[in-house]
Amino acid sequence: MSDQTDETLANLLSEDRRFEPPAELAAHANLTADAYAAAEKDREGFWAEQAERLTWATKWDQVLDWSDAPFAKWFVGGTINAAYNCVDRHVEAGRGDKVAIHWVGEPADDKRSITYAELQDLVSQAANALTDLGVATGDRVAIYMPMIPEAVVAMLACARLGAPHTVVFGGFSADALASRLEDCQAKVVVTSDGGYRRGAPSALKPAVDEARTKTASNGHRVEKVLVVRRTGQDVAWDDSVDVWWHESVEKASTQHTHEAFDSEHPLYVMYTSGTTGKPKGILHTTGGYLTGSAYTHWAIFDLKPETDVYWCTADIGWVTGHSYIVYGPLANGATQVLYEGTPDSPERGRWWQIIEEYGVTLFYTAPTAIRSFMKQGREIPDARDLSSLRVLGSVGEPINPEAYVWYRHVIGGDETPVVDTWWQTETGSVMISPLPGVTAGKPGSAMTPIPGVGAEVVDDEGRPVPNGSGGYLVLTQPWPSMLRTIWGDDERFKDTYWSRFAKQGYYFAGDGAKKDADGDIWVLGRVDDVMNVSGHRLSTTEIESALVSHPKVAESAVVGATDADTGQAVCAFVILRDSAIAEGEADEEIVKELRAHVRKEIGPIATPREIMIVPELPKTRSGKIMRRLLRDVAEKRDLGDTSTLADPAAIEFLKSVSS
Ligand code: WT7
Repeated sequence: MSDQTDETLANLLSEDRRFEPPAELAAHANLTADAYAAAEKDREGFWAEQAERLTWATKWDQVLDWSDAPFAKWFVGGTINAAYNCVDRHVEAGRGDKVAIHWVGEPADDKRSITYAELQDLVSQAANALTDLGVATGDRVAIYMPMIPEAVVAMLACARLGAPHTVVFGGFSADALASRLEDCQAKVVVTSDGGYRRGAPSALKPAVDEARTKTASNGHRVEKVLVVRRTGQDVAWDDSVDVWWHESVEKASTQHTHEAFDSEHPLYVMYTSGTTGKPKGILHTTGGYLTGSAYTHWAIFDLKPETDVYWCTADIGWVTGHSYIVYGPLANGATQVLYEGTPDSPERGRWWQIIEEYGVTLFYTAPTAIRSFMKQGREIPDARDLSSLRVLGSVGEPINPEAYVWYRHVIGGDETPVVDTWWQTETGSVMISPLPGVTAGKPGSAMTPIPGVGAEVVDDEGRPVPNGSGGYLVLTQPWPSMLRTIWGDDERFKDTYWSRFAKQGYYFAGDGAKKDADGDIWVLGRVDDVMNVSGHRLSTTEIESALVSHPKVAESAVVGATDADTGQAVCAFVILRDSAIAEGEADEEIVKELRAHVRKEIGPIATPREIMIVPELPKTRSGKIMRRLLRDVAEKRDLGDTSTLADPAAIEFLKSVSS
């Protein structure tokens, strides 16, 4: 681990504030302290109990089949329909009039509340329409949409049909969409003409058209594109492919008979960045995933479905949106807010206004957002009544103690527990987190694995480190919502997650962590070539490949540099081709062009904060790029004594960046 992480750590570990759970919450908590021991004593029995919160068509005969590890089967022999569990069963239980989704559009006053009974009709209609478009059980459907109710409806309709969805974040480029469509061979894409971003319509359909053309030239045909009219902007139209949502879904029957699928039937594929250029399609299946997302949402937010109003600000294009907007909350019959826009539109206090208006009680967001509110000042949230809040969640990156304390103090009125939840696309649901009615929270620590989960911090040999030391974060036991494989690449699945500590059979998360004197876990960040920018996961290699695909670039190296606002920021070092140098274009112009190029290749979230044009890259004797040195430069750290750098290229490099 770098000196810098050690320094951060020293600061973190001198943090000694503790926040006890509020007495009232503790007295009525969903999950109490004895759950830890109960789960430890009989882990499978504990998970079987959690699976009972779902409605199964056929009960399982075996909780876990781990005989072909690391390929797990959970609730073997059970059959279940995820959409039925998220929608129909609440209606059947007499809660059809309960609001499932308070949708808040970006344009002020554009809102709509949808009950469970209405959601049942919508999902049934969409399932019928997708069937008419040729979608059958097992077919993949891509969803590329803004945060509108139809996105949730489309996901649930796929689940209802047993057609695995792959939701692609609306901020991704046409190229990124195309590579995902190809990788999972999507038959149909659901999209919209556009969505609203900071008060203006922003197009989506053109990217789908472009991606479709691109996949066609690579031999994969997307058969149909189902288009929601959201903004009313003009769209190119191909009658043989494009179908309007309002002309198909909204005209379809609201009657649809669902089928129950095997517990291990694929539910969805979510692409995420790995250490190589190619994104990984993380596969989640039905019974175990739904068990994990429903249980954790209930336990960690202490959800009381009759009275709580829950809001998770994530986009459905990320796993957080899957587990904690769609599957967990809806399986639990919660009432939740779904918001289309950004926190600052039309004004900076929009989120707090929404919390006040809907009386939000449970709130889940990311540290990067909290830090940006801190910067704007507390007057903005202070202008609103936030007293309805009772649990605050954080996810996506380590939350620094200052942000934690501000969140608790300013947003939570010093009363609400803050739950710092650690998990990953791969884990499907939260693994490490305080329990709001049990844990005395420490600002900055994700604390301990939740009941049912086994986590450890280990050294290079896979041995648990003593309290007060750091190492690698691993999961020691299989869990129901674990990824089942990487779509189409079992070898990469074994290699990435299970080979590092194969002897112990541990899942290697790719994060570094430390245990404090009490044995509580502090997650420090990735130990591989994965960056975390505003809670978004980006691969250094993927951005390097994007840069090198530009005709003017000969070589590039990308590092994640610590950034006070975004956690990490993308910093790129680029060597130009001789031909580009000969053209004599100004560096600033080229940098502009390259930033636009990365934006186009991957999407705006991957745009480098900084691109430095350099004549050489510092490399070790064996030819490996010295990333540590690049990070030092990117973070403008004093480089200290560099006289030991024998390599002339490294010296050349340092001269160029210090000028
Ligand atoms: C990576 C996973 C989990 C949904 C959102 C991100 C980092 C996530 C925390 C946390 C410290 C965290 C890790 C992890 N991370 N939550 N509470 N504290 N780090 O999912 O895109 O799959 O990214 O995000 O580095 O490995 P993801």
